[in-house]
Amino acid sequence: MDVLQASGRRIFFFGALGGLLFGYDTGVISGAILFITSDFGLSPFMQGAVVAALLLGAMLGAAVAGPMSDRLGRRRLIMIAAVTFTVGALGAAAAPSAGVLVAARFVIGLAVGSAALAVPLYLSEIAPTEIRGAIASLNQMMIVIGILAAFIVNAILASSGDWRLMLGLAAVPSAILFAGMFFVPETPRFLVRTGEEEEARDVLEEVTEDDVALEESPERKIEEIQEVEEEEGGLRLLKQPWVRPALIAAIGLAVFQQFIGINTIIYYAPTTLTSVGFSADSAIYLNLIIGTLNVLMTIVAIRIIDRVGRKPMLLFGLVGMVTSLAVLGLSTELLATPTSSSDPAAIITFLCLAGFIVSFAATWGPVVWVMMPEVLPLSVRGTAMGVAVCMNWFANFLVSQTFPIMLSAWGSGPVFLGYAVMGVLAFFFVRAMLPETKGRSLEEIEADLHRKTGVGEPAVAGAGGGSGRFERRASDGAPAEEQEPTGTPR
Ligand code: BGC
Repeated sequence: MDVLQASGRRIFFFGALGGLLFGYDTGVISGAILFITSDFGLSPFMQGAVVAALLLGAMLGAAVAGPMSDRLGRRRLIMIAAVTFTVGALGAAAAPSAGVLVAARFVIGLAVGSAALAVPLYLSEIAPTEIRGAIASLNQMMIVIGILAAFIVNAILASSGDWRLMLGLAAVPSAILFAGMFFVPETPRFLVRTGEEEEARDVLEEVTEDDVALEESPERKIEEIQEVEEEEGGLRLLKQPWVRPALIAAIGLAVFQQFIGINTIIYYAPTTLTSVGFSADSAIYLNLIIGTLNVLMTIVAIRIIDRVGRKPMLLFGLVGMVTSLAVLGLSTELLATPTSSSDPAAIITFLCLAGFIVSFAATWGPVVWVMMPEVLPLSVRGTAMGVAVCMNWFANFLVSQTFPIMLSAWGSGPVFLGYAVMGVLAFFFVRAMLPETKGRSLEEIEADLHRKTGVGEPAVAGAGGGSGRFERRASDGAPAEEQEPTGTPR
């Protein structure tokens, strides 16, 4: 991180802060819902509605925010998300009825979905190539800090049952985010798109130290961005064959991240732990350990992501997650049902949940949000991210809504083994469909995509020299100019 100026650090901090909103609000509801239910006398349906309204709002928020970020810019979108979030958080805290609370949660969801899209996009586009993985991982860092903060707030306020304070506290970081975004610039990529090269040059200079010899000068960088930015984006362009492999890569990452079952732990770990014999108190305490591991392992990921590379991390993480899930599933099938927290099955359950979190946090947590904007070409980056992030929330919704139902129908053994199978499928997906993006500029990755599909010339020097999915296809056939666009995702 030595290449950063102080102003660069400020930009990355505020750029990432939106992740906190995402994390806090997804984490806080598990504690708050108990008290909301008794205050409003919620039916099971309304209970589900309070929880799910955020996820549905986030789906819509991401879908709408995609094209908006291509039109208004990444920074302005984060500001809009911050205001929406503040309004939603205050509305939820003051809600006079369950109906208003559901509506406020939906509004919060709109903001969370937009931030989930805009923050990784912003960080990815503003970071120098050499440290882009670490900088873009700050989004996940904020998400997990938000989740841990929510777990702590839940634990502290549990005795008073003050759910209004639990929900209202979220307005503090969103107000800070809004103010902070006035002091950070738009990304150089977006500025070049809108013809503001001077400003783009200033930003490129601001985020890196003067005396550090980066691979490219700001001038060269701007030329590269101009070279890839030859076509106007939008939904129409998403249908084009050359964009398809990138879209599949981004959507696959988004969906598999949820289908391997992360949020059955983030949302339901206390439930799982009490069901194997832990008391409610120890379950809350163990949940704090899980939240802390989530933060610590994200720090590890930030330290290694620009050295180890994205693909090895994803594959390695899957080995850890699938092993944890398989051991958890098999132990509940084979061992006697635990009656106390000292029974082997209870201890194994906690260790497997912890093992899963460690593996996820060090890999799939940050890497997915880092890679989504990386693999997508500039002209459609916002819109395509909108599709992928919307799918991420939809998959999240599916998993978190079906988990309790499947658990009561089949028991935890088959359910966790099912997520293990998803992990195996994800492994093959990563191997077959993803390019390595470490150490390559966004423009080089995009030029590789052109080469792969044979559409357009690889505009950027150095493109095609990396290892990975997009460029492998291009270099093993005829020269890019001679290849026909295939139209088929491979
Ligand atoms: C995922 C969230 C998850 C969180 C857990 C994020 O990367 O997108 O769904 O709750 O990680 O740390």
